[in-house]
Amino acid sequence: GPGWPGVVEAYRDRVAVPDGAEVVSLREGNTPLVFAPHLSELTGCRVHVKVEGANPTGSFKDRGMTVAMTHAKAAGMQAVICASTGNTSASAAAYAARAGMGSAVLVPQGKIAMGKLAQAVVHGARILQVRGSFDDCLELARKTAANYPVTLVNSVNPARLAGQKTAAFEICDTLGSAPDVHCLPVGNAGNITAYWTGYSEYLADGRTDRAPAMFGFQAAGAAPLVSGEPVSEPETVATAIRVGSPASWDGAVAARTNSGGLFSAVTDERILEAYRLLASREGIFVEPASAASIAGLLATSAEGRLPVGSDVVCTVTGHGLKDPDTALADMVEVQPLPVDPEAVATALELT
Ligand code: F0G
Repeated sequence: GPGWPGVVEAYRDRVAVPDGAEVVSLREGNTPLVFAPHLSELTGCRVHVKVEGANPTGSFKDRGMTVAMTHAKAAGMQAVICASTGNTSASAAAYAARAGMGSAVLVPQGKIAMGKLAQAVVHGARILQVRGSFDDCLELARKTAANYPVTLVNSVNPARLAGQKTAAFEICDTLGSAPDVHCLPVGNAGNITAYWTGYSEYLADGRTDRAPAMFGFQAAGAAPLVSGEPVSEPETVATAIRVGSPASWDGAVAARTNSGGLFSAVTDERILEAYRLLASREGIFVEPASAASIAGLLATSAEGRLPVGSDVVCTVTGHGLKDPDTALADMVEVQPLPVDPEAVATALELT
């Protein structure tokens, strides 16, 4: 069909799927890379934002889910399972529906944003709320997939990372080369691992003349990669990255070390400031976890750890509409107006 074909078709030579497999796709990828003038001014860098909330289910997870679901369907599986802080479950539910398969999602009770839960509900997932953390949910999902005929579609499934690396390809294809620095939020650490794989492949094949330093940012209350120790009770407003024991720990450390990058922690307060700044100054509405990359950008710039003049890309991983409760938390009640133009003018202080 016409238009962008989705990441598997667009990068067929780089994303392996079984021969003759029917590709399960919602035409994910090809997301906007938006120049950010205000962030550029604040940091003295050239900053672009990779807006992954523009994917079909509103997060970067779709890039990996198309690949994982294509493999599962080709293998004749009837159902998939995942643990999730919300976005993976939304994506798995949508792509399973598309594939005519079932999905089961394990989520930490009371700790996933409203929009994400709504997606899992409407796409028909079997939703199991667990009295435990994301890390507990992942262990349960792994054990279930090991013992029953369901495919695990968390990022421990290598097909997921093979799809997610395509974001790095798109950035290089759009900018003409990789940036100097790439900032992103880190939870279970699959995405930073996938980006580094993507940049490394392009560098090896001469499709870019450099690879970026990978800057991975975690929420201060859930920052195992920063402290070097798993966190037993992770807590943060950025529920998407509320992960205490990242599955791709080694991949993230390799990305950081081999790229000459860094891990750093950002407080919830800074995350929410960056969240509001991005929305109010750049016109880009993201979920709190995504704003960790922006909070980290500003912090490392202020600390002198971001060389002035750098080309920087920040991935913002999920759409702001995923989490309306956070957006509306500080809203003040106002009296409704009568149907009267003068009342409108007065309310807007135009008179
Ligand atoms: N940003 C968002 C919006 C996410 O949903 C996630 C992960 C991340 C960043 C971190 O990516 O785990 O690859 O380091 N969400 C997972 C989920 C855990 O279940 O949806 P990561």
